[in-house]
Amino acid sequence: MPEIYREHVPAAHDQEAAPAIQVVDVVRDYPRPRTSLLRPAPVVHAVRGVSLDVKQGERFGIVGESGCGKSTLLRIIAALDQPTSGRVVVEGTDITRLPERRLRFLRENLQLVFQDPMSSLDPRMRVRDIIAEPLVVQGHPASGERVRELLEAVGLSAGAGDRYPHQFSGGQRQRISIARALAPRPRILIADEPVSALDVSVRAQVLNLISDLVDELNLTLVFVSHDLSVVKHVCDRVAVMHAGQIVETGYTGDVYAAPQHAYTQRLVSAIPTLQRALSGATTSDLLATKGEPA
Ligand SMILES: Nc1ncnc2c1ncn2[C@@H]1O[C@H](COP(=O)(O)OP(=O)(O)OP(=O)(O)O)[C@@H](O)[C@H]1O
Ligand SMILES: [Mg+2]
Repeated sequence: MPEIYREHVPAAHDQEAAPAIQVVDVVRDYPRPRTSLLRPAPVVHAVRGVSLDVKQGERFGIVGESGCGKSTLLRIIAALDQPTSGRVVVEGTDITRLPERRLRFLRENLQLVFQDPMSSLDPRMRVRDIIAEPLVVQGHPASGERVRELLEAVGLSAGAGDRYPHQFSGGQRQRISIARALAPRPRILIADEPVSALDVSVRAQVLNLISDLVDELNLTLVFVSHDLSVVKHVCDRVAVMHAGQIVETGYTGDVYAAPQHAYTQRLVSAIPTLQRALSGATTSDLLATKGEPA
């Protein structure tokens, strides 16, 4: 096990509190172009009846291979897409089919970090404006001080605010995305493969940053990855997704140590990618935290 990962100790949760997120029997079918007038239009069953609860303050992982429906499920949780059937309740409010004007609480309290910071950051905007943007959109004044505070929280210098996204490394760009997501002081952070596009030498740094910020800010985290070993180091509980369904849910350590479902067993035996790669990286790569982070 690479030393660089700080093992996360699950927090005790208040069993009485309403779940941060409840997903109830969510189905999402995407229509495909009709290939024959005689046959019904084909559909892709991206999500096939998923139910899950994420407790307040919990770090919940969703793991599964490419195309199993992870991002589709996240988009529905964030009300960026609607389910074909089923519902999503966030902090006690059913957000399914709510008009945009009634989703303000969700837009403020739930923020997303995506896989590829290059495509999620506007290349024409300075970093300070990128970070301030969610606040401006929500009609709150964005002070320079708040932007500096956010840059500092993600390990970047105040001067980074004057630069453009292309002037940063991949890891630094993901730090900028994280700062932007935290700007509106959300209670829920949703991260969709946040380190998959990064060089292995900086993955651990960015994972540790997310983990530390979630602790410090007392956030609920939903963290998606195709790599169970990454999820293990960040999440308390994990749901294993396969072909649009959840095949196994449990405490991350238990699922990792004793996977019950055949698909999870295959995932566990395929784990090594990140760890092998990490053990190939030099210690100085992994511990390079002096100066500007990578
Ligand atoms: N807008 C869309 N229209 C049609 N089909 C879609 C659309 N979005 C996703 N799909 C299909 O739904 C299925 C699930 O896709 P999704 O992006 O949710 O998977 P994923 O688990 O996030 O994969 P990855 O790990 O590659 O990001 C795939 O078969 C995909 O092709
Ligand atoms: Mg995806």
